[in-house]
Amino acid sequence: MAKVKITETVLRDGHQSLIATRMTTEEMLPILETLDSIGYNALECWGGATYDACIRFLDEDPWDRLRIIRKHVKNTKLQMLLRGQNLLGYKHYADDVVDEFVDKAVSNGMDVIRIFDALNDTRNIERAVTATKKAGAHAQGCMSYTISPVHTSELFVQQAVEMEQMGCDSICIKDMAGLLTPFATPEIVKAIKSKVSIPLELHTHATSGLGSLTYMKAVEAGVDIIDTALSPFAEGTSQPPTEPIVTCFEGTEYDFGLNMDALMEASDYFKPIREKYIANGLLDPKVMGVDIRTLKYQVPGGMLSNLVSQLKQANALDKFDDVLKEVPRVREDFGYPPLVTPSSQIVGTQAVLNVVMGERYKMVPKEARDLVKGMYGKTTVPIKEEIVRKILGDEEQVTCRPADLLEPELDKYKKEAAQWIRQEEDVLTKAMFPQPSETFFKKREEKLLKLDMNLLDEENMVYPV
Ligand code: CO
Repeated sequence: MAKVKITETVLRDGHQSLIATRMTTEEMLPILETLDSIGYNALECWGGATYDACIRFLDEDPWDRLRIIRKHVKNTKLQMLLRGQNLLGYKHYADDVVDEFVDKAVSNGMDVIRIFDALNDTRNIERAVTATKKAGAHAQGCMSYTISPVHTSELFVQQAVEMEQMGCDSICIKDMAGLLTPFATPEIVKAIKSKVSIPLELHTHATSGLGSLTYMKAVEAGVDIIDTALSPFAEGTSQPPTEPIVTCFEGTEYDFGLNMDALMEASDYFKPIREKYIANGLLDPKVMGVDIRTLKYQVPGGMLSNLVSQLKQANALDKFDDVLKEVPRVREDFGYPPLVTPSSQIVGTQAVLNVVMGERYKMVPKEARDLVKGMYGKTTVPIKEEIVRKILGDEEQVTCRPADLLEPELDKYKKEAAQWIRQEEDVLTKAMFPQPSETFFKKREEKLLKLDMNLLDEENMVYPV
């Protein structure tokens, strides 16, 4: 058994980071058996963006994709990324919806569920962890890595311990912005390994150009699993590439023990797919290079480009430097949230408004207000009283777990989805993507109608598993 293992992300984060999650099930299908034979720890293949893109852009049922992958991947664990109480959507769901989603994900073939919360508020992941365990799957507690005066190794260790006590089967450090540097990594890896006994996985991005070096130091420091993407969908804003990292450790005490022939076959398979997305413009050269600014400003690459487009819209691109200086100030005011969806958008937009309006917090969007109110959960440090008063006035902050304020809501979603239901999972699609799901369901009905007329064996055609 290899000492260190690899989770392959080409079917999720790889194409999410480089081509806006547009890879189709059809493109994945021919290589699934080969991927299954490589010997990976897991194949990451599902998450909020994959589900969203299936519904919104690909006219694919994400549940069909999961079932198809499961059918062709018989030995390797399948893994997904879950936004805690937000599931794959953008708001908090009641516990009965969380239970139902996790149960369906597992019964359709998911083995490992990586569960994170944008604010690292463990109360927001607890229900999903419990549901995952109950469904008989592997619950991975995940913390969003960030840098701030309060985010010390001790703080991450404390969270890791809490997640182990909660019943998590493993821990993940999710470095979505690629902020971890090679020489900072051993400290946090060793600190966590010394206090928890469950496996530790590291997820980083190559954005700043340091990802592969960071993995090298992490492996030496005792990390159990690292996340990489096959090279045609690696580097840039994606993960470091699988093949060179595997080759680097070949014959050493850290040898991953993978089937190299199968690995090369899979690598070759994805090359023309990459070429196709370069040719059609979806793979933008901008995301393929090194962006060292993420380290300088400690913000994810995607957030930088969002700021640029927001400023362009406001005809204030000359204020870019001021906004970059304002981002850390807003972050401090808001209790140092990690910058990941949705906190990255909230902090970024507020920083733009503060600069463009010429007065801080003159305009505060609903999402920023909700963050200050506690509707997303607890921030790493309490939000300064002066900011709370300025934004909320006399209104009180919410201190309980936000989902405690929600009544059970599964029945409501069942009613809303009633006219479209062809499978129980459709209720969850309706709950998480209210608007896009309508269009998706309508198109599906049209397709079914066509099938009825032409083929008659519609059952097999609609849900091929
Ligand atoms: Co990622």
